[in-house]
Amino acid sequence: MKLLKFAAFTMFISLAFGFSSCRKGSTGNGKAEGVEVYKKHCRLCHGVDGTLGLSGAADLSRSALSPEDTRRVIESGRRTMQAFGGVLSEEEIRAVTDYVISLRK
Ligand code: HEC
Repeated sequence: MKLLKFAAFTMFISLAFGFSSCRKGSTGNGKAEGVEVYKKHCRLCHGVDGTLGLSGAADLSRSALSPEDTRRVIESGRRTMQAFGGVLSEEEIRAVTDYVISLRK
């Protein structure tokens, strides 16, 4: 029983450290986290899982665009979706492209 508690404790510690080092990596030093970019700039229209479709936003979970075209829509915009080329860095666009592709079912 003691051993089990110890194991759980060690796991908790390593998880806590894992998360904190992850955070450090994503703040301020230009390293982009796709999920953070998405929450900040995309969730409003596309929703947490990409299916919200506010003001006609495409359902990202059913998108059939190639990774290259996906990146292009994000960078240059399309109809009511604004271009993010001037808002996000090259790396942030790449990260959020990977993230929205990961939302597909
Ligand atoms: C103001 C609302 C709005 C925001 C914010 C927004 N989008 Fe969109 N998005 C749209 C709309 C509307 C469309 C459909 C455009 C069309 O019909 O041509 C779209 C389409 C897309 C598509 C094309 C999907 C497909 O299969 O055709 C992708 C990819 C996409 N958005 C990703 C993003 C990402 C990533 C962000 C954040 C960086 C984002 N969007 C932010 C409204 C938005």
